[in-house]
Amino acid sequence: MNSRTTGHAPDPVIVVGSGIAGMLTAIRAAAHGDVVLVTKGDPAHGSTRYAQGGIAAAMGDDDSPDKHAADTLAAGAGICDPEAVRITTQEGPRRIAELMRLGVAFDREHGRLALGREAAHGEHRIVHAGGDATGAGVVAALLEVVRRDPRIAIAEHETALRLLVRNGAVTGLETAGPDGVSRVRTARAVVLATGGSGQLYARTTNPAGATGDGVALAAAAGAAVADLEMVQFHPTALAIGPSPLQLVSEAVRGEGAYLRDARGHRFMLDVHPLAELGPRDVVARAVASTSLRDGRDVTLDLSHLDPARVLERFPNIAAACAEHGLDLARDPIPVTPAAHYAIGGVLADMSGRTTLPGLYAVGECASTGLHGANRLASNSLLEGAVMAVRAADDIRRGGEAWFALPPRPVRDPAGGGTPNPGAADRIREVMWRHAGLERDEAGLVTAAGLLDRLGTPPDHETRAMARTARLMVAAAAYRRESRGAHFRTDHPRARPELAHRIAWLGGEPFALTPARPVRRHIPAATRAKEAA
Ligand code: FAD
Ligand code: SIN
Repeated sequence: MNSRTTGHAPDPVIVVGSGIAGMLTAIRAAAHGDVVLVTKGDPAHGSTRYAQGGIAAAMGDDDSPDKHAADTLAAGAGICDPEAVRITTQEGPRRIAELMRLGVAFDREHGRLALGREAAHGEHRIVHAGGDATGAGVVAALLEVVRRDPRIAIAEHETALRLLVRNGAVTGLETAGPDGVSRVRTARAVVLATGGSGQLYARTTNPAGATGDGVALAAAAGAAVADLEMVQFHPTALAIGPSPLQLVSEAVRGEGAYLRDARGHRFMLDVHPLAELGPRDVVARAVASTSLRDGRDVTLDLSHLDPARVLERFPNIAAACAEHGLDLARDPIPVTPAAHYAIGGVLADMSGRTTLPGLYAVGECASTGLHGANRLASNSLLEGAVMAVRAADDIRRGGEAWFALPPRPVRDPAGGGTPNPGAADRIREVMWRHAGLERDEAGLVTAAGLLDRLGTPPDHETRAMARTARLMVAAAAYRRESRGAHFRTDHPRARPELAHRIAWLGGEPFALTPARPVRRHIPAATRAKEAA
């Protein structure tokens, strides 16, 4: 029972996750009541801390939110939600100003914000901090504010296990502390800000902990999820050492670095008019196929650039390369694609509301439609900041669910409980091989079978991985076309009848169109036609 039903002092807002989305939600919500910030590791741990390139926002004199929106829509390959794009790009500059007020020191040049450029952005609009240490700067500043705020209690090293659902609404959260003891808290609202799912893949840039927990928690509670087939692979992770791999930011190509094959040829010139700054999925597939053809990694070449500028702009990437005996400014740097960003997630509207009353989702774990089928670089920190504020404000207003759809929980296959220490690695191999950069029907059927055979892994994190992986494979199998980040070798072209987002509730697909986001359940006859 929560305070809505007892009339006692209001329950806290529970925020799950301490990246940009979670911390900013907590800070904003704490202005109006108590907040518990639950995070499964050290509070500074999450993808946010590792972000390099920066945050996209129309801050330049020649730029505008409309131009930013146009680039975002173009990257999204026809299925962005235009309203999500409009709101996010318009509110971007205000959120950058707010981050500065909260203590983030963005880099400056001649007294003004220094603006970088990344692939598929038509303008210089990426604010960054510490050169290539944007995420670390954001986390340090926000964490200081969170720690100072007496209304925010941080429950660190505590993992969210299960959402409590009562009469069709989320009323609280069950967690497990570092000692494994479970704890139940009631909440005014629960906000999922659990980040992405790169750790479902054998090669990823995402830190440990990016295991798709938000999608698993929401789906088990009966909330809708969307766009899970859309996984963005970054073209240039350092191809040395175990996963997670060091990212070599797109900003490095933005500064003019070349990609070369084994013969030293700039192969991207043959692939796309924008060469190294072509769309991320195109560059990632070209890097993968060129490495496969040559039998060795492709390399990034910065040797024609000013070495002093390279080291000043990318100190952390240079240091990571130096650990492997490589000089970023002079040596060929071996790179590989790696799973980088979960475009899909828990279906949420532009207030962060999910299909379950009392449950919100913000940041990378949510799917608002901003990214469509392909995220524009540096739009995710922006989305986290914009949606955190909007969700916290909605909770203050006492917002209800977007389209209170009755919960329809997904069920895990039976057969779990057997200790299976290799299950997490098995999932990573299956997903990399069969649901990676390129997919086809046979591979996805194989993946579904292999994942089902895992049953229900005994530990919470691997269980979440398995559940999210199954949902992603089902979504990839359903979308029989290629669009943006989702490339099907057996259906290499986009199909106009699939030019919409697809949500899933209790294992059933829904078409999402901007005009009527959730209502249109895909009738069985249409489903058969779309699946043909
Ligand atoms: P995260 O920062 O990932 O935080 C998730 C939090 O949830 C963590 O605290 C985690 O411990 C917690 N959590 C997860 N599951 C549970 C659970 N069950 N219980 C409790 N806590 C849980 N984007 C950009 O816009 N610009 C960039 O330059 C950029 N560079 C990137 C570089 C790298 C190497 C990576 C990996 C990503 C990059 N991205 C970039 C993407 C961006 O960093 C992420 O999309 C963004 O930081 C996600 O923020 P978030 O708050 O949603 O999640
Ligand atoms: C990068 O710096 O290349 C990553 C930027 C992003 O993923 O948005």
